[in-house]
Amino acid sequence: MEIQWLHLKFFRNYLDQEVLFQSGLNILQGENGQGKTNILEGIYYLLTGKSYRVHREQELMSWGENEFHLHGDFLVQKRKLRLESHYKEKRKIIKINQVPCRKLSEYVGTVNVVFFSPDDLAMVKGGPAERRRFLDLHIAQHHSKHIQLLNAYNKVIQQKNALLKRGQNGVKSQLELWNEQMVRIGSEIIKNRWEFTDLLSQKSQEVYGQISSGREKLTMEYHSLGKENLSEALEVFPKLMEEKMALEMERKMILVGPHRDDILFKLNDRSARLYGSQGQQRSIVLSTKLAELEVIRQNKGEYPLLLLDDVLSELDELRRDYLLDYVKDLQQTIITITSAETLTPRASLMLKVENGQIRRFD
Ligand SMILES: Nc1ncnc2c1ncn2[C@@H]1O[C@H](COP(=O)(O)OP(=O)(O)O)[C@@H](O)[C@H]1O
Ligand SMILES: [Mg+2]
Repeated sequence: MEIQWLHLKFFRNYLDQEVLFQSGLNILQGENGQGKTNILEGIYYLLTGKSYRVHREQELMSWGENEFHLHGDFLVQKRKLRLESHYKEKRKIIKINQVPCRKLSEYVGTVNVVFFSPDDLAMVKGGPAERRRFLDLHIAQHHSKHIQLLNAYNKVIQQKNALLKRGQNGVKSQLELWNEQMVRIGSEIIKNRWEFTDLLSQKSQEVYGQISSGREKLTMEYHSLGKENLSEALEVFPKLMEEKMALEMERKMILVGPHRDDILFKLNDRSARLYGSQGQQRSIVLSTKLAELEVIRQNKGEYPLLLLDDVLSELDELRRDYLLDYVKDLQQTIITITSAETLTPRASLMLKVENGQIRRFD
């Protein structure tokens, strides 16, 4: 998969900018604060309906504007696709080949993308919410239904929370109804997450072995409801809900469910979050991102677009060489580097980014 053309209008510091890309390695080079990441963010938003950095569309509109528009031409299975994403008057409109999509789930995953930036270290070092978000975004690119499940689950959680906060008498029967919904939808979410953690675990283990000269073994485990085994977790889910109901009413909060699950990265069976060095943690993120690429290729028969934001300067020589060697086999990679970068990889296309303007640079 690849992007051939991008048009950004009123998006971040781009008022009206077109960019032509090529297959292979594309480099966006520029000083800090010029708009390199904004281009990657634009591509990512166009493909997923979400920004990697912020939750609100408000921040994506150029200052002083009330709308933004993104257009892109993509190549998928050798066919050309035009995607559009418009945000105007607080409404999102998305289109594939000029046909509007009713739901984001009809759209996400049409063109797949993997985004990798230094902030992804939070996947290992941060809290469980970061890891669940990474996993959910990954799954959504394969199973559009996963987004619907998450939306439905979040609605149930909100309703149940509101009910617990009101805390009147006689809420028990209502709580039971919400619990049934939580179990029904939550079990599907758990199954999806378990399945993809297993797939990612296998692939990331292979990559990690290659960049750590095989000394350590990386594993990824999905932990749900305190269980390390899927069938046990699914079995215990309704029982736990029942058991904790009185305590939930007392504390006025939800205590059980996959919205509290976690993914554990382990090196030689020890938590990488607690015991891994910074270098090991960076290698885990790199391995997991490349695993994501491979899982998508297996599923879709084609590599997704790879977007690399400032990662070269963060990696040591061994890992940087490994990554640059890896991207040679991909259909398309877009990478940002600052002018200070001493090592400039051989690229199909070099673009210079300066104050929201882009020009070719040979
Ligand atoms: N909504 C916005 N409207 C206009 N400019 C913005 C907006 N958000 C960020 N910027 C500008 O974009 C620049 C940062 O772009 P970014 O792509 O993160 O830079 P870098 O080249 O370092 O990756 C900053 O100069 C910032 O002022
Ligand atoms: Mg940047």
